[in-house]
Amino acid sequence: MEDWLNVWEKSATYDIAQSTISSMTMNEILNLDGRNGAEFYSLLNDQKMNYGWIEGSHEFKQEVAKLYHNVDDENILQTNGATGANFLALYALIEPGDHVIAEYPSYQQLYDIPKSLGAKVDLWKIHEADNWYPSIDELKQLIQPNTKLICLNNANNPTGTILNREFLLEVVALAKSIGAYILVDEVYLPLDDPNQFVSIVDIYDRGIATNSLSKTYSVPGIRVGWVVANHELIDLFRKYRDYTMICSGVFNDLMAVYILRHRKQIIARNQKIVLNNLKIYKNWIENEPRVSVILPKAVSTSFPKLDIPDDIEEFCIKLLKTKGVLLVPGTRFDTPGHVRLGYCTDEATLSNGLTKISEFMIEQYGVKN
Ligand SMILES: Cc1ncc(COP(=O)(O)O)c(C=O)c1O
Repeated sequence: MEDWLNVWEKSATYDIAQSTISSMTMNEILNLDGRNGAEFYSLLNDQKMNYGWIEGSHEFKQEVAKLYHNVDDENILQTNGATGANFLALYALIEPGDHVIAEYPSYQQLYDIPKSLGAKVDLWKIHEADNWYPSIDELKQLIQPNTKLICLNNANNPTGTILNREFLLEVVALAKSIGAYILVDEVYLPLDDPNQFVSIVDIYDRGIATNSLSKTYSVPGIRVGWVVANHELIDLFRKYRDYTMICSGVFNDLMAVYILRHRKQIIARNQKIVLNNLKIYKNWIENEPRVSVILPKAVSTSFPKLDIPDDIEEFCIKLLKTKGVLLVPGTRFDTPGHVRLGYCTDEATLSNGLTKISEFMIEQYGVKN
């Protein structure tokens, strides 16, 4: 998927492939305090540009801890994005010969990094017919006495599906029966009801949660993420972290603190974008006979199915070249026939992009009733 975006994203006029909720400009960020950055600059101006806090500042850890019900500041390590957090946890935990189960498709790191570290990775498939949930019965078949880790992506990229509390508790019960860890990449929050979201670290002592400011908080540009886990695991991660990064940087840490302190305003901004765009998207789907989707619960990514005769990669390339619309073909998630559609860009880009897709399909395949 990253290869696809690297090659094509800069040529898009209507980029509706991304999973971030419309990124904020520096002006928007600085005005979160309503004082044109006075608060942020008062934090920044006296700072020495040294390495700063190695693991993330106290303020950062305090703000992150507030996102969970049962997490102490010491259970948090700052990382370079959620990708850095996933990498750190996997790099520290996985040894050759380990058995890992990974939800599939999901974020590629979660199955490919364990494989690259020598683990045997079994893929736990999600099923469209079950609202893109994987099956507990299939997990029971995959799980082995020596399974070390189960990797989940909640909400899932590309489908946007949220695994609910009951389902997570079933996975926890199975993991607990053999002492396995559960790593959950939690970068997507359901914005219709954020308080309903259940983090793995609040329900399982061997749970590992990774997250960042890239998706729900709309600032991928600062590259700040974190990993949360119990003391024993965090001590292990701390050791490995010394080999992969020193710190996220003084500027990034300060900005992360400032953003987390204005979390409520950002969530309110993003709720507006997501819920408004979801309406536009739903309306388009209802009137577009060649497209169907299991609508995400206000999560910023979706995985619609296209009823077209062509190879999905060829379709996506032709769509981009003739109409300027960027999607990610489902082949990049091993699921041809689908595309990843990120509907949480600005409203004009979404509306124009969807109209262009419809135009393109009529030009290519005629009108379908
Ligand atoms: C599930 C998931 N995890 C992590 C990332 C990357 O996060 P970050 O920008 O924080 O490294 C993405 C980006 O698409 C993602 O979809």
